[in-house]
Amino acid sequence: MCSKLIAPSILAADFGNLQRDIEMVNTSEADWFHIDIMDGVFVPNISYGMPVLEAINKHAKKTIDVHLMIVDPDRYIKTFANLGSDVLTVHYEACTHLHRTLQAIKTEGMKAGVALNPHTNINVLEDTINDIDLVLIMSVNPGFGGQKFIENTYSKIEQLKALILRKGAQTKIEVDGGVTDKNAKALVESGADILVAGSYVFKSSDQEKTISELKALVNS
Ligand code: DX5
Ligand code: ZN
Repeated sequence: MCSKLIAPSILAADFGNLQRDIEMVNTSEADWFHIDIMDGVFVPNISYGMPVLEAINKHAKKTIDVHLMIVDPDRYIKTFANLGSDVLTVHYEACTHLHRTLQAIKTEGMKAGVALNPHTNINVLEDTINDIDLVLIMSVNPGFGGQKFIENTYSKIEQLKALILRKGAQTKIEVDGGVTDKNAKALVESGADILVAGSYVFKSSDQEKTISELKALVNS
């Protein structure tokens, strides 16, 4: 079985000590850097933008997984490719021509991801699943770290996994929001491949240990 990945969300890092927190992720057993870009329009919050991602990329030695919570993401696909993004995820709810957007992301040499809000049914991906490298299932409403995990997520992961198998797709499943040691194992058992964890990692007293225990838990 493929190993399950951990993606610490930099939104929960200490921005006054960003380089230190990036180095922590570099030396930890984490697999990806999860980068949340919010525009204050698609979601009711603004996070950080291009100059900060540029600074992160200067130090980060692992896969850069960018989660765009912005309207009309097509405007910035090239920009995020140039900033070193390896995976670029757009929201289904923010794309009028999702198929075209996915092709544009791949043309720039990145893996193409689609995020679904908690209210969005899996079946909207029926006709695009074979073109999607990764589906990010939101297990909280996007916009903020530190929110409570939504229990309906398990059933969505199972439905998505069934769709992927039925269509013979290679799509990976990522889960984002409220992930802790309490739900991580059940999430991978439902079919998740990558778990994003923000507050659970960065608010803990020994962040590297928290990551390594989470990684061991999901791969046990
Ligand atoms: C929420 C973001 C998440 C967030 C997760 O809109 O997409 O990536 O940082 O944070 P936690 O793990 O604290 O819920
Ligand atoms: Zn995210």
